[in-house]
Parts: sequence; C-alpha cells; structure tokens
Amino acid sequence: MAKYNLSVNGKKYTVDADPDTPLLWVIRDYVGLKGTKFGCGMALCGACTVHLDGQPIRSCSTPVSTVKATNKITTIEGISNNTDHAVQKAWIEAQVPQCGYCQSGQIMSAVALLKTNPNPSDSDIDEAMSGNICRCGTYPRIRKAIHRAAELMKDSGNTTGR
Ligand code: FES
Ligand code: FES
Repeated sequence: MAKYNLSVNGKKYTVDADPDTPLLWVIRDYVGLKGTKFGCGMALCGACTVHLDGQPIRSCSTPVSTVKATNKITTIEGISNNTDHAVQKAWIEAQVPQCGYCQSGQIMSAVALLKTNPNPSDSDIDEAMSGNICRCGTYPRIRKAIHRAAELMKDSGNTTGR
C-alpha cells in the first residue's frame, strides 16, 4: 500500500491503495463517485472512460501509481456540474440512453472529441467513438446527439464542449 494524492473534479484526495489498483476502483471505491462504470476491465469497451488532463483514458487499465498529483482527473460527475453542458442537453434531446450502462463513458468520449473538433463529421465521430461499445446499439442516437451538441456549442459561442 502507498499514499496517492489525486485531483478529481477539482477536489484533492489522498488515498491508500496498492500501486496496481486501477484508477477506476480508486474513483468508485475510495473517492466514492459511482458514475464511472466497469465493463470489461481490459480497455476494450470504454465504460470506464474518464479524462486525464482533458484526454479520454480507460480508467480500468490505468494503475493509480501512474497518475500524478498534478494530473487533473475529470469524471462524469465533474462535467455534470454544469447544467448548460451542450452534450448533456443534446443527449437529453435525442433521448440517447437505453439501459444507460455505457453512457457515462460515451459522454466522456464525446466531450473530449468536441473539445478538439467542434464540428465533427460522421466519420470523425465514428472514429473517436469506436472504442466505446454500446450493447443496446444506441450508436445512431449518439451520432445525432454529438452533431446537435456541436450546433448548440456553435449557437452559444462555446467551442469547448462545456
Ligand atoms: S471497463 Fe474499461 S474499457 Fe471496459
Ligand atoms: S445504453 Fe445500454 S449499453 Fe449502451
């Protein structure tokens, strides 16, 4: 066991964990944020996607010992604080989720895409979202919602996806 200082959604945490504990379990069990989901545990499904300094990563395959105190971790709860979030609005408008299990990972990947590409094409979306699996097959609604979020961001002059 060792102590790790982490910054999650702008708050500082110190956790005692084994170095190889996946960041996913630290977020869920030590920090107590349950929005990030476990799917495959092998970096194959995207359910566990969070941002590390704005980049989407698979938290199930990221040992806590590789995360520095200076890294900024953002989870689905971190983006949910802003009720005007274009992606959230678009997701609700398009009624994207079915069972919902994959959706926090989908949203984290969509937010990261729109930050770097505020007007993605269908193929940009398919490429960026290809690592996020949805067993309910909500892909057409995900694509529609990402286009809608891009429109909402453009209309509001917000080009950051937040
Ligand atoms: S749970 Fe991490 S990619 Fe599937
Ligand atoms: S909404 Fe059910 S797995 Fe994606």
